[in-house]
Amino acid sequence: AGPSGPKICCLGAGYVGGPTCAVIAFKCPDVQVTIVDLNADRIAAWNSDSLPIFEPGLDEIVKARRGKNLFFSADVDKGILEADLIFVSVNTPTKKTGVGAGFAADLAYVEAATRRIARVATSSKIVIEKSTVPCRTAESMRAILEANSSGDIRFDILSNPEFLAEGTAISDLMHPDRVLIGSLQTAEGRKAQLALADVYAGWVPREKIITMGLWSSELSKLAANALLAQRISSVNALSAICEATGADVDEVAYACGLDSRIGPKFLKASVGFGGSCFQKDILNLVYLSESLHLPEVAEYWRQVVSLNEYQKLRFSELVIRRLFNTITHKHIAVFGFAFKKNTGDTRESPAITLVKHFIQEQAFVHIYDPKVEQSQIEADLTHPDVGTLHQYKNYVTIHTCPYDASKAVDAIVVMTEWDEFQQLDYQRVYKNMNKPAFIFDGRLILDAKKLRGIGFQVEVIGRQA
Ligand code: NAD
Ligand code: UGA
Repeated sequence: AGPSGPKICCLGAGYVGGPTCAVIAFKCPDVQVTIVDLNADRIAAWNSDSLPIFEPGLDEIVKARRGKNLFFSADVDKGILEADLIFVSVNTPTKKTGVGAGFAADLAYVEAATRRIARVATSSKIVIEKSTVPCRTAESMRAILEANSSGDIRFDILSNPEFLAEGTAISDLMHPDRVLIGSLQTAEGRKAQLALADVYAGWVPREKIITMGLWSSELSKLAANALLAQRISSVNALSAICEATGADVDEVAYACGLDSRIGPKFLKASVGFGGSCFQKDILNLVYLSESLHLPEVAEYWRQVVSLNEYQKLRFSELVIRRLFNTITHKHIAVFGFAFKKNTGDTRESPAITLVKHFIQEQAFVHIYDPKVEQSQIEADLTHPDVGTLHQYKNYVTIHTCPYDASKAVDAIVVMTEWDEFQQLDYQRVYKNMNKPAFIFDGRLILDAKKLRGIGFQVEVIGRQA
């Protein structure tokens, strides 16, 4: 006999759908979880030994439950037909053309998924917004579902935003700070809310499962990302002041973070934030504010993104300035291409912007990242906004070892805070580099004093040389 609990289907086998549903299946052996996707290759990878995304701990839990109560399938309709609860966890990128281009979220995937549920379902469903969406998207989903369903089927819509961060997705899902479930404040809405809360209660303490209205829940997700990104832009703005004054940004962040009202987390100065969501979600909030005729509010949030662009540019300019104002035909090693450590994801990675600048200056760039696939780096650097295939072939070399990547280069630029960059034999690295040998630490992870002792010229964010 199969599992006796509710059946869950998730539309979208991405960075959110995959890990989230794998953890549900792992923690709730009673629940049958099927993750479906339009992309058959991605589904095949989820069913293989080499999962399509890298997340610490993910392999183990997928292998423990796959084929038991966890299934990956390209048969979207079957998944919908069988499920009691359906997560919509599809992509919601920033719109590229049309009204709101460059700011608004492209809801075409959410709408297509919703229409498919309406068309295929033959029994009542609880439809759960897992994707990050603008405030009041649930209303559109409800209108589509109700207009396209036959009389005796009921759809209840919940908002259940995901707060996991990549690189720590599994532990974030296993021990969430909170699980948020928004619903219409009707008897049916609350019943649906309880059905989903019961699933999470399989491993999350009830007091951490919080419920509220749909619109608050939707807006809370955008608000949380905006507040997090705003902390990084704030500390990065301070890093510029530190460099100009002789203050040390790590010390300033430490001193401020000891105030319990501020707290120590998420105050690490950097080359700028990346990742698929911070920029997209803030721009979405900017668009929402403008649509609501709140230009001052829009401008406030827009500045978080502008400051991030400034920080990325500032760092590439620092490299060029310190390399005697020209990097043309110089060789530069880039350590790390992922947008943060412990992920192979490169979406909006600051490394893309940096390498774009370097290529434009005709520098030879040697990239090493322990997890990012070569094909991904090529795709990112030959994107029309970044560079051509010709430039890529002429100026970029991908390495599988940091010592090879840094051989005979003029500088190393640390872009991702991978732990292994702290453990390299920098004597060996130094010996094989051109002199003077520069290291630019964009993540404040290296021991600058020790490196200077070896002979390196060291430059870091937020501190004078
Ligand atoms: P992703 O691009 O990795 O995955 C989305 C998947 O949905 C793709 O594989 C795509 O093929 C599939 N898809 C699109 N339309 C479909 C349809 N109609 N039916 C079935 N599958 C369909 O995206 P992601 O990073 O998992 O993000 C998904 C959502 O979650 C976004 O709204 C994002 O903002 C939000 N989010 C992401 C993160 C994160 O860390 N990546 C964290 C929290 C929230
Ligand atoms: C972020 C949020 O942390 C998650 O809660 C949210 O669910 C997710 O966005 C989302 O909605 O997609 P993620 O982007 O995966 O998660 O990773 P973060 O750890 O937030 O890092 C984002 C970027 O900020 C990275 O480039 C990171 O290096 C940078 N960062 C982070 C800093 O520069 N300094 C810090 O102190 C923290």
